[in-house]
Amino acid sequence: MATNRTFTMIKPDAVGAGHTGAIIKMIEEAGFRIVAMKLTQLTPERAGQFYAVHKERPFYGELCAYMSSGPIVPMILEKDNAVADFRELIGNTDPKKAAEGTIRRLFAKDISANAIHGSDSDENAAIEGRFFFAETDMF
Ligand code: RTP
Ligand code: MG
Repeated sequence: MATNRTFTMIKPDAVGAGHTGAIIKMIEEAGFRIVAMKLTQLTPERAGQFYAVHKERPFYGELCAYMSSGPIVPMILEKDNAVADFRELIGNTDPKKAAEGTIRRLFAKDISANAIHGSDSDENAAIEGRFFFAETDMF
């Protein structure tokens, strides 16, 4: 099952700017089925846990502050080849480098406030999905 699922969250900049609906529409039109979704907010501590893999990076403090600065919309998505196809749909981390028509190109402000997250492997999709949806047994 894990190979057909990925985890995403719409980040505080995009939720705050009112892009949630437009982004969900793009996700569904790209063939992803939403199997879990909620609107919630991370504390700085939980943001730090979620991005613990980046804790040695220079942007870690800024990332944790930003990711806890407002509401987010985490989701578990289902589609064949979900992880890779979703990374393609969101585009490069830096919206200036993201391809035309990608979610980050359309909605991200900059490399930090970049609108949306997408898991980078099946293993991380399962870890991240459980982080937000422990109760649902999705992975
Ligand atoms: P994500 O995990 O959020 O889907 O993003 P990603 O794989 O494209 O990028 P990653 O390298 O995992 O970085 C995680 C998030 O950290 C912020 N970031 N800021 N200021 C910077 O140079 C910088 N680099 C990364 C972004 O919010 C990025 O999505
Ligand atoms: Mg990443």
